[in-house]
Amino acid sequence: MDAEELLDEAAARDATHPLAGYRDRFVIPDPDLSYLDGNSLGMTPRATVHRIHEVMNDEWADGLIRSWTKWLDLPLVVGNELAPLIGANDGEVVVHDSTTINVHQLLHAAVALRPDATHLVVDPGEFPTDRYAVAAVAAQHGLGVRTPPPGGTLDDLDLTGCAAVVRSLVDYRTARIADLVGATARAADHGAIVIWDLSHAVGAIGVDLPAAGVDMAVGCTYKFLNGGPGAPGFSFVRAGLADQIDHPLRGWFGQHDQFDMDAEWQPKHGVGRLMIGTPGILGLEAARCGIAISAEVGAERLAATSTELTSFGLDLVDRLGLVTVTPRDASQRGAHIAIQHPAADDITTALAQRHRVIADYRRPNLVRLGCSPLTTRFTDIARAMIALRTEIDQRA
Ligand SMILES: Cc1ncc(COP(=O)(O)O)c(C=O)c1O
Repeated sequence: MDAEELLDEAAARDATHPLAGYRDRFVIPDPDLSYLDGNSLGMTPRATVHRIHEVMNDEWADGLIRSWTKWLDLPLVVGNELAPLIGANDGEVVVHDSTTINVHQLLHAAVALRPDATHLVVDPGEFPTDRYAVAAVAAQHGLGVRTPPPGGTLDDLDLTGCAAVVRSLVDYRTARIADLVGATARAADHGAIVIWDLSHAVGAIGVDLPAAGVDMAVGCTYKFLNGGPGAPGFSFVRAGLADQIDHPLRGWFGQHDQFDMDAEWQPKHGVGRLMIGTPGILGLEAARCGIAISAEVGAERLAATSTELTSFGLDLVDRLGLVTVTPRDASQRGAHIAIQHPAADDITTALAQRHRVIADYRRPNLVRLGCSPLTTRFTDIARAMIALRTEIDQRA
């Protein structure tokens, strides 16, 4: 391995990359830190620091209760700002609560649309929160939970009698992209709804929900959208379907006339009926700043950059003799690379302590390297791969 050569190659890519300048829009705590964890917690946009001060001083401290006039609809306003990143239209997205709550809510809504259903479907390897939500909602409605047969996939399951499938578009471990169009259509053929979890997809790959015929989706804003720790999640419901849905998590923010205090529950038109209680305005404004940068760049350029970064990384995987479970076909992968090694846990710790490379360990044997299109440098990827080779060699 000629580390210098690889680093020079990476530096040359950074110097000419059209999105490289966007990194300056983020707080860089240490230029020598290679942060490859933007798929867990995205970096801090400078605009967020400024905007949060502004909201604190001008809107909260000075404006006090008067500011609620501009805050009341903020979940829908920010939803419209996020919408183009997933191909959605105005009024189809609301930014609110956590992804977990949103999965619960949409599962209840999907079950209510299929009163004759017998079960829900989720993959046993799905992100835990999605599995827990499926199990909980199934139990509440007296439904079963079906999973693929051993060695099989979700695509092998007969969906007759299924109300809903919860499925990640980008697998949190391997980065494999599911067949959005095919799986949505297969479910629809059986009257089932796929609730797509876009947490590892939004801001990283191109997604066009309406073109794929998607009914419902959720996702988070604190990964590739750089929304901040605990930033609210989002829900998408296709136009036309939103007015038909009902869910038990009712609150006054989802009520048609919120300040008619005597009114019986009459939900807002559209996706706004998913709002529950008072939104956290600071978190929402922070999320808004991150979303704005991604929206400015556009899903297409974000996706192209993700592909360039992961292609470069996978090339280094081969040149350095590392092992990956991430698909080689660019159209099949999201914006992270998972390196497989039995000592992955120990190696992830060593990367941070000895090489200033921050990655994620995912059980049982993966080191996960997030390639955020707005903040990750080719140099970061090269440094990570060189460090991985060094650490693996030391354990041989
Ligand atoms: C696929 C997926 N869904 C959901 C979540 C998290 O949900 P929440 O924001 O409610 O904690 C994550 C977090 O990493 C995730 O990877």
